[in-house]
Amino acid sequence: MRKAVFSDTALLFQWANQPIVRFQAFAQQPITWFDHTYWCHRRFVGKNGIWVGVLNNREVGQVRFDEDLQAACWLIDIHLDDSYKGKGLGLQLLNQAMQQQAALRPCYYFCALAKVSNTASCRLFEKAGFSMVGLVCLQGQWCWQYERF
Ligand SMILES: CC(C)(COP(=O)(O)OP(=O)(O)OC[C@H]1O[C@@H](n2cnc3c(N)ncnc32)[C@H](O)[C@@H]1OP(=O)(O)O)[C@@H](O)C(=O)NCCC(=O)NCCS
Repeated sequence: MRKAVFSDTALLFQWANQPIVRFQAFAQQPITWFDHTYWCHRRFVGKNGIWVGVLNNREVGQVRFDEDLQAACWLIDIHLDDSYKGKGLGLQLLNQAMQQQAALRPCYYFCALAKVSNTASCRLFEKAGFSMVGLVCLQGQWCWQYERF
């Protein structure tokens, strides 16, 4: 596991545009290279909160933590490279990344939103010890809200 760096821009772009990742996202349209590089440029200044999982020198996926200052929590986004799904790596990656991220702000809790239809994601958060705390509608899409303190 390592922190994402500028040279990961293309890799993060490729992952973010995998059809399943766009399908499970709230904004489903493909991300343009222009928007992505602009986003990376802002994100990589300072503490970016993006972790890249590495297995046998291969990057397998990413976990991103967006800070919610008001709620004092980290909102999680996770996705794996298509070729590494279904091997239990999501749980390992999530646990390791949360451990690293928690050290930055020990008083923060973790929060995640998963579409009700996204069984793999719901199972992942349940296995990682998250509690389902509510059902919310975001951009017309129902999702479970998960929290872990
Ligand atoms: C979410 C994600 C990171 C999980 O990756 P993963 O760890 O490889 O997930 P798995 O395929 O092992 O599935 C996790 C669990 O869900 C179960 N599962 C997956 N798809 C399922 C389905 N259609 N029906 C029932 N169970 C399902 C698996 O059996 C597994 O449970 P188990 O460990 O108890 O057997 C990965 O699917 C991903 O990158 N998805 C696209 C992006 C995404 O949806 N991100 C989440 C946004 S909040």
